[in-house]
Amino acid sequence: MEFSRKVKIAPSILSADFANFGAECRAIEDQGADWVHVDVMDGHFVPNLTFGPAMCAAIRPHIRGVMDVHLMISPVDQYLEAYAKAGADVISAHLEAGPHVHRTLQAIKGLGKKAGLAINPGTGIEAVPYLLDLVDVVCVMTVNPGFGGQKLIESAYDKVRALRAMIGDRPIHIEIDGGVTNDNAGALVKAGADVLVAGSTVFKGGSVMKPEVYGANIAALRAAAEG
Ligand code: DX5
Ligand code: ZN
Repeated sequence: MEFSRKVKIAPSILSADFANFGAECRAIEDQGADWVHVDVMDGHFVPNLTFGPAMCAAIRPHIRGVMDVHLMISPVDQYLEAYAKAGADVISAHLEAGPHVHRTLQAIKGLGKKAGLAINPGTGIEAVPYLLDLVDVVCVMTVNPGFGGQKLIESAYDKVRALRAMIGDRPIHIEIDGGVTNDNAGALVKAGADVLVAGSTVFKGGSVMKPEVYGANIAALRAAAEG
């Protein structure tokens, strides 16, 4: 994974056809997706349940590029190795998932993976400077995690600007997750984001039978993001 601040579109397969993940992953990559975002939920840290490591391992051969695994689970440490073995390139854990996020990030790096630090809308970023040496991606949650199709929480813009200033020249991505649309993508990138997760915005109206709709949705989002 070469570092670049160029805008990357990361469709969340939470909005894909759950009966057809392999074909959905191939379709979004063929249609221009940069990263494939996989939302792992445990029904405890967030009020929804999704994918285990076996599912991630099963879709891995269908993803040519970056598999970006967002763990919305607590506790998280005992599952990191399984998601690493499943082939994740980026593993993001939540700042709120436990008292020892520094140890969690060390463990992800120790597994040879890019480490993501996900931060809920209601959580401040005071701890981030103490974690930056271990972080490759800061994932700013712009909705309360658990479900796709929610509206972006506006207070996120200030948080993104503050993070961007904190990060300076370090090779750390700022990823936005939740409620990204063609209407807010430009402002998010101006504020400092370079990875845009998008579920509904990418998958709406399309299917593996109509993949060109994914292509049009990704192209429109990228154009909006690049302003
Ligand atoms: C929310 C997930 C998001 C979500 C984004 O818990 O982490 O990745 O699927 O979906 P949209 O883009 O529909 O808000
Ligand atoms: Zn996510």
